[in-house]
Amino acid sequence: MMTNKVWTIGLAIFSTLALFGSKPIMGQRLPPPQVQDAQVPCFFIFGDSLVDNGNNNGMLTLARANYRPYGIDFPLGATGRFTNGQTYVDALARLLGFRNFIPPFARARAPREVLRGVNFASGAAGIREETGNNLGNHASMNQQLNNFGSVVQVMLRYFRGDTSLLNSYLGRCIFFSGMGSNDYLNNYFMSNFYTTGSDYTPEAFASLLLQDYANQLAKLHAMGARKVIVTSVGQIGCIPYQLARYTNNNNTKNSRCNEKINDAVSMFNSGLKRLVQRFNAGGTELPGAKFVYLDFYKSTSDLYLNSSQYGTKVVVGLGGTTGKSHACRRSSRARTAGSTCFGMHSIRRSLRMCCWRSRLFRTKPSLIPSIFNNWLWLEKDN
Ligand SMILES: *[C@@H]1O[C@H](CO)[C@@H](O)[C@H](O)[C@H]1NC(C)=O
Ligand SMILES: *[C@@H]1O[C@H](CO)[C@@H](O)[C@H](O)[C@H]1NC(C)=O
Repeated sequence: MMTNKVWTIGLAIFSTLALFGSKPIMGQRLPPPQVQDAQVPCFFIFGDSLVDNGNNNGMLTLARANYRPYGIDFPLGATGRFTNGQTYVDALARLLGFRNFIPPFARARAPREVLRGVNFASGAAGIREETGNNLGNHASMNQQLNNFGSVVQVMLRYFRGDTSLLNSYLGRCIFFSGMGSNDYLNNYFMSNFYTTGSDYTPEAFASLLLQDYANQLAKLHAMGARKVIVTSVGQIGCIPYQLARYTNNNNTKNSRCNEKINDAVSMFNSGLKRLVQRFNAGGTELPGAKFVYLDFYKSTSDLYLNSSQYGTKVVVGLGGTTGKSHACRRSSRARTAGSTCFGMHSIRRSLRMCCWRSRLFRTKPSLIPSIFNNWLWLEKDN
């Protein structure tokens, strides 16, 4: 039964390769071309809580999201995604034509489960190894790459040890890497746990991160990745936790955001953009590489500044400062308004969220994972 299934998928994959112009496999007659669902054969994801889809569920960590109110608008409920609905790689996978969600590495081991892609992302993860340790266990970028290495071995067995066939397959896949937020939030700007903030200037820290990240992306390329999307770090100086702390202080640009964080992150981002240009230069460094720089900083600032254009409103409510009763009253309407997906741990604030939070605040404040502070709360503006 099992073998039969593998075989069917095997045929589908082989016919995909045939469509892309590869030579027929083992001289066998290929089945008639099937309707192609996805535009690319597979989609692999590396990152942190913004795209994690359940890899931290079995780990001892505060960076975990497999309980309500996470997932209240997601068809499968609380899966470990750090949002009420889909993550943006879920949306991306759908746009690419995938019919099923890309499985988390924690659950995908067998060949038939990994051939269409795997999500290695892990909440609290960073480029640097120690990043996020304040929250507990997770899979750092280095670990995620090792995990991809083991998936490549599984795939290689599936392709009967034919590395050139495997590489031509992987070369058509999309790779997504979103890293760096935690290297700032759960490392550089967390001085009670890490010394990086005093050891390095923001410039020095950004170039240190970029050096490590360049090596990691080169490793990804060495393992077969060619088409890689890298995202810049979002405007994390404007997450609710920072907004609540910095509102009404005398910040630069008359902003409610923590511009010190935004400025540091911007240094990393402009370096990342140059790195992508270097990788795409077509030299001998990363032959055949096609990197795409996704400006997540710009999209998050757009979301923050222009939220009304998207029918949403950013609400800051650390400890319920914007009025619990307001959110509670509106909730039932928001609840039925359909699922939304944004980055930055966004959620439409709902009755449950609000009341659940305030109950926890009253009884056991220490139970509230610090990760909750990072949510960008969006309220549906009808
Ligand atoms: C902001 O500036 C005003 C005067 O310009 C000053 O009185 C106030 O203490 C400052 N607030 C903070 C938080 O620095
Ligand atoms: C906000 O919207 C305006 C008008 O659509 C646009 O020109 C501007 O670039 C947007 N702001 C950001 C930060 O994207």
